[in-house]
Amino acid sequence: MRFDGKVAIVTGGARGMGASHVRGLVAEGARVVIGDLLDSEGKTLAAELSHSLYCHLDVTSEESWRSAVRDAEAAFGPVDVLVNNAGIIHFGGVEEQSPEHFRQILDVNLVGAFLGMHTVLPGMRSRGRGAVVNISSASGLMGFADGIGYVASKWGVRGMTKAAALDMAGTGVRINSVHPGVVRTSMGESASTDLFAHQPVPRIGEPEEVTRMVLFLASDDASYTTGGEFLVDGGQTIGHVGHAHATATGSGA
Ligand SMILES: NC(=O)c1ccc[n+]([C@@H]2O[C@H](COP(=O)([O-])OP(=O)(O)OC[C@H]3O[C@@H](n4cnc5c(N)ncnc54)[C@H](O)[C@@H]3O)[C@@H](O)[C@H]2O)c1
Repeated sequence: MRFDGKVAIVTGGARGMGASHVRGLVAEGARVVIGDLLDSEGKTLAAELSHSLYCHLDVTSEESWRSAVRDAEAAFGPVDVLVNNAGIIHFGGVEEQSPEHFRQILDVNLVGAFLGMHTVLPGMRSRGRGAVVNISSASGLMGFADGIGYVASKWGVRGMTKAAALDMAGTGVRINSVHPGVVRTSMGESASTDLFAHQPVPRIGEPEEVTRMVLFLASDDASYTTGGEFLVDGGQTIGHVGHAHATATGSGA
């Protein structure tokens, strides 16, 4: 199996897409630390799966990160895979969003992923191997109204991924970003159906469809891939389906 003997940390792993990534990694042989604030959901998931451990992790806290990595190493050994998946959203446009909400989104989605890499990369560098998958969004490649903080954070994750991949050049450590469209989780279901109704695959995505991409990038199957951005968005970011010319489907000349 692709992750036999490998140790992974998945942030925001207690529910939603993070829980799907945890299940996928465990199914392929990994031992997985589930890091989240949701202690009850996280412990329930860990109890259900063998080879996993729940750890209370607030991704915005350096001390919390150090403690999670210590727990992972003590239970399973050095960390081979980090999936920076934890994220939050507060809807609001540039005029309406409170500075507090804007800062909070950046703190979790962007600073949280930075702190994760900052904490695990020295160990990966010294062992000469490792893979980081940063969960951005389709919103990391375009804008959407009423999403000022979220869009800023996800463009930040996309750019930070490329800078970090260059910092790790020649070390055997790869870092990539994944960009889901609208996906069936509590966060995805808060989005308007307008967001996916006009895309080439006109439906909401399933968490497992994103997991398959995350597992590819985290595995040695992606050995020649770093600093890349990988869409799992049903074609959302290439534009709306439809004809630009008003008479394209009519009987005009
Ligand atoms: N659902 C979508 O449509 C969608 C689309 C694109 C990208 N994403 C991204 O995918 C990731 C997973 O989102 P989801 O849809 O599964 O949402 P979700 O709300 O179900 O899961 C997010 C998880 O992150 C955890 N979390 C929040 N703040 C945290 C913190 N400070 N420390 C640790 N954990 C924290 C939550 O407790 C939760 O378990 C997020 O980064 C999100 O931005 C989601």
